[in-house]
Amino acid sequence: MGSGIAQSCATTGKFNSIVLQDVNQKVLDNAQAKITQSLTKLQQLKKVQLDKSPEEVASRITLSTEVKPVSDQNLLIIEAVPEIIELKQKIFKSLS
Ligand SMILES: NC(=O)c1ccc[n+]([C@@H]2O[C@H](COP(=O)([O-])OP(=O)(O)OC[C@H]3O[C@@H](n4cnc5c(N)ncnc54)[C@H](O)[C@@H]3O)[C@@H](O)[C@H]2O)c1
Repeated sequence: MGSGIAQSCATTGKFNSIVLQDVNQKVLDNAQAKITQSLTKLQQLKKVQLDKSPEEVASRITLSTEVKPVSDQNLLIIEAVPEIIELKQKIFKSLS
């Protein structure tokens, strides 16, 4: 879900910086290739119009295992951790 959200943000070309954060390095290792493959397929099917190649669009996303805000200005955080209320509360507390 999180990589899909990052992919959608990158596709718009309207964000200066997109950071996909996950505690699991393996998830991040797979994310860039998964996003590039998905964009390639969507482009072939004419389901999306990209302003750059799928690789270039995917490269707008930075990956990090550090789960923290990267800026305090013009910041949009989209939370997509598992549906565990204590985990979500912990994350929101860490942001406030
Ligand atoms: N999958 C969907 O189609 C879908 C649709 C609507 C809403 N959602 C919601 O999105 C959220 C995530 O669902 P999902 O299916 O992507 O789950 P998922 O388990 O596939 O992915 C959750 C990710 O969160 C990571 N994670 C765990 N703890 C973390 C932490 N402390 N900080 C950062 N990352 C952490 C995990 O490593 C995992 O990669 C849930 O709240 C779910 O209800 C999912």
